[in-house]
Amino acid sequence: MALNFKLLVLVIVLCPLTINSFDYFTMVQQWPKGFCYFNVSKCKRVRPDDFTIHGLWPSNFTRSLRNCTSTEYGVIKNLTEWQTRYPAWPDLTRPIPNCRQKFTLQAQSFWQHEWKNHGTCSETMYNQSRYFDIAIQLRGQYKLLNWLVNDGIRQGNNVQISRVNSSILNVTGKVPDLKCDHPDLYLGNPTSKSLPVLQELGIYLDSTSDLKCDHPDLYPGNLISKSLPVLQEIGICLDPNLKVIDCPKKFQRSRTCYVANSKGNIHFP
Ligand SMILES: *[C@@H]1O[C@H](CO)[C@@H](O)[C@H](O)[C@H]1NC(C)=O
Ligand SMILES: *[C@@H]1O[C@H](CO)[C@@H](O)[C@H](O)[C@H]1NC(C)=O
Ligand SMILES: *[C@@H]1O[C@H](CO)[C@@H](O)[C@H](O)[C@H]1NC(C)=O
Ligand SMILES: *[C@@H]1O[C@H](CO)[C@@H](O)[C@H](O)[C@H]1NC(C)=O
Ligand SMILES: *[C@@H]1O[C@H](CO)[C@@H](O)[C@H](O)[C@H]1NC(C)=O
Ligand SMILES: *[C@@H]1O[C@H](CO)[C@@H](O)[C@H](O)[C@H]1NC(C)=O
Ligand SMILES: *[C@@H]1O[C@H](CO)[C@@H](O)[C@H](O)[C@H]1NC(C)=O
Repeated sequence: MALNFKLLVLVIVLCPLTINSFDYFTMVQQWPKGFCYFNVSKCKRVRPDDFTIHGLWPSNFTRSLRNCTSTEYGVIKNLTEWQTRYPAWPDLTRPIPNCRQKFTLQAQSFWQHEWKNHGTCSETMYNQSRYFDIAIQLRGQYKLLNWLVNDGIRQGNNVQISRVNSSILNVTGKVPDLKCDHPDLYLGNPTSKSLPVLQELGIYLDSTSDLKCDHPDLYPGNLISKSLPVLQEIGICLDPNLKVIDCPKKFQRSRTCYVANSKGNIHFP
């Protein structure tokens, strides 16, 4: 009895730590022209001519993490903070909010989503304001567009995905996570014709959909692709103390950069 009680106390004490623990972050930046290349109406505002933050995603090496605590998203009410966050981390699916809209939850729903789904999973180490600050600080450090341009990879050109890979690797010394977009990818799963197919890939995986990751339908060999996959996102992985590490193979999404006959060529719009 006494032992059971001690065990119970131990479990209660340890639980909050283990539930929220994470192994690494993926700092994901998106290329706005790639984000809505195949469906321009996805973007409801001018597309910035630079990588913007998609999210900072804590994960475990064995499985991705989601919705870890119930801490609510705190709406930004301070103009200075808003002006720091928005240019780095805009919601491309909404028009640029006017003065009145800026401080509404609706206008900040992208940040709310990223916080609830991802940020809560690193909350044991980084509270909400730190979480957002870190992401913005990392974007300031990782000038992906400069890195690509300095390596001769120019907007509007086609390039081998392996070359994008080595350009990033050349700067960070670590393997990045690369994600492309292409309409053929949506045909992989006959039951879902749109985005959900892609969301089962890589870091979006939850433990139940994990096995679908390598599904051969994702490479529809009988389709002659009319266009190349386009570069959509580049992720850089970091340990919990923000030191860059190789992105774990298990969650890498570069398979989205290969469609039938494309031979690893992609378009950088
Ligand atoms: C994440 O992995 C750690 C070990 O690295 C483990 O202790 C923890 O329970 C895992 N967390 C979740 C939510 O799976
Ligand atoms: C294009 O994006 C719009 C806005 O998100 C969406 O309503 C529409 O269904 C998309 N079209 C296709 C073909 O996916
Ligand atoms: C996380 O929470 C959102 C609602 O906030 C829900 O739509 C989503 O399905 C949840 N994801 C997981 C993996 O539990
Ligand atoms: C807004 O945030 C800035 C920067 O964090 C801070 O210096 C300033 O005092 C804040 N303003 C108000 C009204 O809280
Ligand atoms: C968040 O964490 C930072 C640094 O660890 C700390 O300075 C700040 O007071 C914390 N904010 C809240 C609301 O707890
Ligand atoms: C990126 O480089 C690493 C290390 O050489 C390699 O393992 C990985 O397959 C490469 N990825 C792509 C998409 O070329
Ligand atoms: C890596 O960097 C070196 C020197 O900085 C350069 O000579 C080389 O071409 C680069 N390689 C790639 C693949 O970017």
